Amino acid sequence: MTPAVSDLDAVSSLQVSGTGPARGSLQVPGDKSISHRAVLMAAMAHGPSVITGLSRGQDVTHTLRAIERFGVTVAEGGEGRVRVEGPIRHEPDDVLDHGNAGTGIRLTAGVCAGLDGISVLTGDRFLRRRPMDRITGPLRSMGATVDGRERGRLAPLVIRGGSLTGITYAPKEASAQVKGSVLLAGLSAKGPTTVEETHPTRAHTEEMLAQFGARVSMDGHRVTVEACELTGTDIAVPGDPSQAAFWAVAALLADQGGVTVESLYPGFGRSDFVGVLQRMGADIDFDLTIGTLAVRASRLHAVELTAEDIPGIVDEVPVLAMAAATAEGTTVISGAGELRAKESDRIASTTRMLRAFGVRVTETEDGMIIEGTSRLRPGRVDSHGDHRIAMTAAVAGACAAQGTTIIDGWDSVATSYPAFAADLARLTGAVAEPAA
Ligand code: S3P
Repeated sequence: MTPAVSDLDAVSSLQVSGTGPARGSLQVPGDKSISHRAVLMAAMAHGPSVITGLSRGQDVTHTLRAIERFGVTVAEGGEGRVRVEGPIRHEPDDVLDHGNAGTGIRLTAGVCAGLDGISVLTGDRFLRRRPMDRITGPLRSMGATVDGRERGRLAPLVIRGGSLTGITYAPKEASAQVKGSVLLAGLSAKGPTTVEETHPTRAHTEEMLAQFGARVSMDGHRVTVEACELTGTDIAVPGDPSQAAFWAVAALLADQGGVTVESLYPGFGRSDFVGVLQRMGADIDFDLTIGTLAVRASRLHAVELTAEDIPGIVDEVPVLAMAAATAEGTTVISGAGELRAKESDRIASTTRMLRAFGVRVTETEDGMIIEGTSRLRPGRVDSHGDHRIAMTAAVAGACAAQGTTIIDGWDSVATSYPAFAADLARLTGAVAEPAA
């Protein structure tokens, strides 16, 4: 029996046969970055918080399960509505498993650093390979004792927290996860905690701290928080712009495509991919007043992306690289070394994915050089456990490569976008089914 498209989330290999343009309108899942923060701050806060539109992907579900280990009450309604009753009552009573979620583990580590007690944080085999020293360093400077494999570079992490002192920290990497982890620890530190960024990153932690009543102030690229109690509040999570980027590129890959994505987060640092696609010649508008993205099929040309561009498109490079693969001319991406520390080494996995579609691409140390082609050939792509590689390949298979594309490691998509295959089938008419 052919499984329903909604059952496709769990298949390990998916095959997609297109080829048609993406057409229609949709809403994408609740923003993952905002969802993690809403859950953690609601857990730390005194009194109830009701969160609506929460991401239902596995990553955020792991964060929800984690806060229950701290004695926080979680009541889940349907459709992403969750009532959380804080505050945290005790150290976690078991190991916190964050699955594949880098944001989940790094932000939660900040919470654990401020707790008088011991916490053990881990994740799946992909997460346990990702660098944790970017947060363990500052959390140790604040006074937490942190241990982990390879001198705390890798999870599992063991954190003995409490009695922190505020610091001023300038992260080496442009990373909102690092900023968030340090600021959450700062909520219980003696004296102010300041994060000074060279490249400003998404501002969800500071924006939401203010919503929960924290003593937080922003001054240019500096954010400062002082010890305080959070107060429960209601949070409506908007749609995730990084998920909308797949549909934007889907609309651009085939003639006559046209997609509208509604209710997206319109704030700072999340929609720079729109400007990149405009630079490539795309007919695309993002109405910031209502968070609606409208895209119409367009002829694209190559673009040059440098270190200045990367912090604003850190999650969208794979799908922008696919757009570049179908554009006229040679696209050069540089200054993107951070991508090697994502769910997969995204410079390597994006390069391999493009090659599987017959694209000529050169991997460089901190980026790639992509020669645009008018024709993608269908291929077999390994997601390397990375949801964004899998979704990019599915979009290319549905809208641009004549024939059947197979994606191994499809189940990674459930971390962020359950029912992506169903939306793909609906918008493009592609047939998506389990592959042998
Ligand atoms: C995120 C920050 C980014 C981004 C990730 C979500 C966040 O990671 O890639 O998907 O929610 O703070 P880095 O902080 O490693 O840049």
